[in-house]
Amino acid sequence: MSRKPIIAGNWKMNLLKSEAKSVFEGIKDFVKDYSATELPTIVIAPVFTSISSVESVKCDCGCCGTKIAVAGQNCHWESSGAYTGEISVEMLKDAGCDYVIIGHSERRQYFSETDEMINKKAKAILAGGLIPIICCGETLEQRESGITDSWISGQIKAALQGISAEDIAKSVIAYEPIWAIGTGKTCDADEANRVIAMIRSVVKEVAGSDAADSIRILYGGSVKPSTIEEQMSKSDIDGALVGGASLKAESFNEIIANTMKVACGV
Ligand code: 13P
Repeated sequence: MSRKPIIAGNWKMNLLKSEAKSVFEGIKDFVKDYSATELPTIVIAPVFTSISSVESVKCDCGCCGTKIAVAGQNCHWESSGAYTGEISVEMLKDAGCDYVIIGHSERRQYFSETDEMINKKAKAILAGGLIPIICCGETLEQRESGITDSWISGQIKAALQGISAEDIAKSVIAYEPIWAIGTGKTCDADEANRVIAMIRSVVKEVAGSDAADSIRILYGGSVKPSTIEEQMSKSDIDGALVGGASLKAESFNEIIANTMKVACGV
């Protein structure tokens, strides 16, 4: 089964409004020469205060809207209320987002996000008509003690608990080994593919083969223009969640171009 690749840029806590706008303009300028069918699904996750700035760069005809989707980097599961500092799915949708990243290791580590919270967020995102990008990944210590697969499988089962097979099929998972994030140490492509295939088998176990065949599972962790071709040539890797290399249009565009060489037939 052929799944449309996704190249997503997680800008984390970077780029002021004008900088965000300029990087987005650089990406828009690159994608204008390709049709939406040729391109992978492109997703950009700016900080909340820059969502409207990047949205304002999209042209009126809507063509860049179909080529570059915007994501929130987090959300709350309640729709409104006394939750100082939080943002709801409806608010992200109202701002123009189609996707929401949840369960990033930085949120799990620094903001004590639990599997249970991630599951509630995933349900709220799907109920609101948006698509969750659910992150999972192991620490170096967990990898070295040989518990990578059981750890990741536990994270995935907890995140997907109580979600219908239909909703799981349209969700996105990002496998991001924590030791590969921001370190320049990319996970070996065969090993990333092995873990991602294992995640797909967990999805099959909880939601059946159709969902497992449809769900897109990305790799994240020091993805660069020079690594993406090998990663995209693997059977189960459906794209990338890119941090550092998404902060500059040149490197992000190169990642898109190299993805198209392998996976989109351009
Ligand atoms: P880097 O690409 O900077 O390693 O970040 C990966 C990441 O955490 C994306 O969510």
